[in-house]
This record gives sequence, C-alpha cells and structure tokens, in this order.
Amino acid sequence: MKLVLASKNQGKLKEMQSILQSLGVEVVLQSELGIDVDVEETGTTFSENAQIKAEAVCKASGLPAIADDSGLCVDALQGAPGVYTARYGGEGLSDEARYRLLLNNMRGLGPRTCHFVSAIACVFPDGTLLQAEGVCDGTVAYAPMGTDGFGYDPIFFIPGMKKTFAQLTAEEKNAISHRGKALRAFAEVLEEHLKS
Ligand code: IMP
Repeated sequence: MKLVLASKNQGKLKEMQSILQSLGVEVVLQSELGIDVDVEETGTTFSENAQIKAEAVCKASGLPAIADDSGLCVDALQGAPGVYTARYGGEGLSDEARYRLLLNNMRGLGPRTCHFVSAIACVFPDGTLLQAEGVCDGTVAYAPMGTDGFGYDPIFFIPGMKKTFAQLTAEEKNAISHRGKALRAFAEVLEEHLKS
C-alpha cells in the first residue's frame, strides 16, 4: 500500500519509511506525485493540524495520505512553541536560527524540561481517519550538540542518554522519539484497519 506523506520534510519521510516498511507500506512525499498543497495549519492541537494536512493531500491525490504534526513544548515557556514550533520566530528563519532563538529566550529561565509531541493522522479516500500520538520527554540543552537529524534535534537533550537527538543514530532516535512512538502506535491501528 502507498501512503502519501503530507509534508516537504525529508527527515520525517526517512523516519516514517523506516518504521512503516515492515508493514509493507510505501511512504512517498507529496512532491514525488507532483502535489503542491500547503494548507494553513489553523488547528489549536497537534492532532487537528495533522488531520487538516492529511485531508488536504488525500483530496488532492485521491490516495490515502498520512501527516505528522509535531512540536516542542517547553515547560518554562508555558508549553510554547507548541503548535507554532515550525513558525517560531516568524517566517523565513532557518532551523538553526529558530533553535538559537529558543536558547536565547530560555536564558535565565528554569526548569529546562520539555517534551516533543507527534500526532499522526491518516485519511483514506472513503473518509476513514486513523490517528495516533507519541510523546518524548527531554530538556532544552544549554548549547547545540550534534549534527544528525533535523529541526530542533541539536538542542533536545535526553538526560538518560546524556546526548541530544542530533547525537543519536537514526535507529536510536526512532526507538525513543515522539514520532517513533506515534508511528509504532499508528502501525498497530493501521494493521487492525487493514484486517477489518
Ligand atoms: P510541522 O512540520 O508543522 O509538524 O512542524 C514541526 C516542527 O517541529 C518543525 O519546526 C520541526 O523542525 C520540529 N520538529 C518536529 N519533530 C522534530 C524532531 O524529531 N526533531 C527536531 N525537530 C522536530
């Protein structure tokens, strides 16, 4: 089965492919099908935004579409940037500029505890909606460390491993990450759905 990923993010694609391929599911980026849908994320929760993105791409492609809406929630910032993580600091900033802004905004604040959330939505042409969610706890590092991964990975520190996400291999990150957890939960829901 082919699922169209409602995203332009290669990092998300790789993480999804590595977990869903065991189910015989092929995940392709919307751009590979020539689909250029960029919906406004008007939801107030991660799961609402995931559903909005998956519905739009399902409608445009006529194929089952999967979307992840994710973000970083920092306790000392009352859960910000949350659903605004991708837009933190405004349009046009690089990933590095966004996480450096977050580090600046954390100066003098405590605690540094935070969590990543990933909400997955999969929408089928017949309107069926499958959903799953995963959370990963960590802390905001004092300075970026590591070069792997994407987005805020260099500043997301896992105290138990004494490393940031950007210092983990893809397999290590998938094993503990919000998206890894959400995708494994989603894989179970999808398997049940395909059996029914
Ligand atoms: P979305 O693509 O609209 O869901 O936005 C997600 C935001 O959270 C982007 O800024 C991503 O870079 C960031 N993000 C989500 N998951 C991760 C991750 O696993 N590592 C680092 N940043 C992430």
